[in-house]
Amino acid sequence: PDVITVQELSNRMAVRGVDIIKFLMKQGLMMKINDVIDTDTAELVADEFGMTVRRVSESDVEAGFLSDDIDEEATTPRAPVVAIMGHVDHGKTSLLDALRTTDVASGEAGGITQHIGAYQVRTPGGDAVTFLDTPGHAAFSAMRTRGANVTDIVILVVAADDGVMPQTIESIQHAKAAGAPIIVAINKVDKPDADPQKVINELLQYEIIGEALGGDTQIVEVSAKSKTNLDGLIEAILLQAEVMDLKADPERSAEGVVIEAKLDKGRGPVATVLVKRGTLRRGDIVVAGSAWGKVRALLNERNEQLTEAGPSVPVEILGLDEAPSPGEPLAVVESEARARELTEYRARTKREKATGGINQVSLVDMMAKL
Ligand code: GTP
Ligand code: MG
Repeated sequence: PDVITVQELSNRMAVRGVDIIKFLMKQGLMMKINDVIDTDTAELVADEFGMTVRRVSESDVEAGFLSDDIDEEATTPRAPVVAIMGHVDHGKTSLLDALRTTDVASGEAGGITQHIGAYQVRTPGGDAVTFLDTPGHAAFSAMRTRGANVTDIVILVVAADDGVMPQTIESIQHAKAAGAPIIVAINKVDKPDADPQKVINELLQYEIIGEALGGDTQIVEVSAKSKTNLDGLIEAILLQAEVMDLKADPERSAEGVVIEAKLDKGRGPVATVLVKRGTLRRGDIVVAGSAWGKVRALLNERNEQLTEAGPSVPVEILGLDEAPSPGEPLAVVESEARARELTEYRARTKREKATGGINQVSLVDMMAKL
């Protein structure tokens, strides 16, 4: 239905729920934080706070697309964000490592790469592809429920000697729920007992039909070990991305999602962030959940300092006051005062929720979606 709770609207706009309630009161509408308002009223609210609303279907919201109109008008192409999923031991990590060696840039830099949760490779043809390092199923679901789905394409890795297994099926379900197209990578074809045809047949049960059988799923046979047909896989990704026509506006202030974060002994809180739109710059003031800070440094996976990161670029950022949770949206705000206000408000609602407090905040916490 075309409705949204005050809470949800407040999250999306990063405007305090109480301010929305006050405004509604002025319109003669008495609402509480968990009350539902219709789209017309939501539009009125958005308008009051200087934002525009794009109406999307419920399935879009479920898939994690944001209900603002920004990407629709964007004209600048961005790199596809690709997650690699599949059953345990089917070769996800090996495949990622192998794909990384195809990166033109890392070869030039002499190749000491540190592990960060996401990285971008540049293909020999000059196209960029962003890979998310094998997100666990829990992390993937967490991101989705937080409306922070960042994956454009899922690569489903299936070992040719093992076939479709329980986590293969789970991965398919995740991808379908997120609305992300699947590319199947049948891995380990170098093995003597490899049977790619068996995998292809098994996948039919899950409505994954290869192009050879008249379906629309690209199925690529690879070997991470002997580095066979990696260019074929890259080609499949680029083709899929082209069909999707991925765009984002690099001109606006940045919005991203926290992929992972940790407390580093020497460097303090370090968060790996994937920029979704806009451009994140050194010196920006950012908020992610109850964490905030001035971006002191932006680093890529080769530990190189960047001055800025545009759409689909994953970066490590330093300068936050604490490590935010994975899946937390990150947004640039205009001032430190605004950042403090937001994070204090979030900390308070979190406390109130923890103590079963007066305030009926039902969602995890206030998440900024500027
Ligand atoms: P988890 O992260 O534990 O779920 O496993 P994974 O899917 O990341 O698999 P990983 O890359 O760790 O590979 C599992 C095993 O399969 C390792 O022993 C790899 O060396 C082996 N392996 C991966 N790819 C290939 C391949 O293409 N051919 C062969 N023969 N072995 C492979
Ligand atoms: Mg692995």
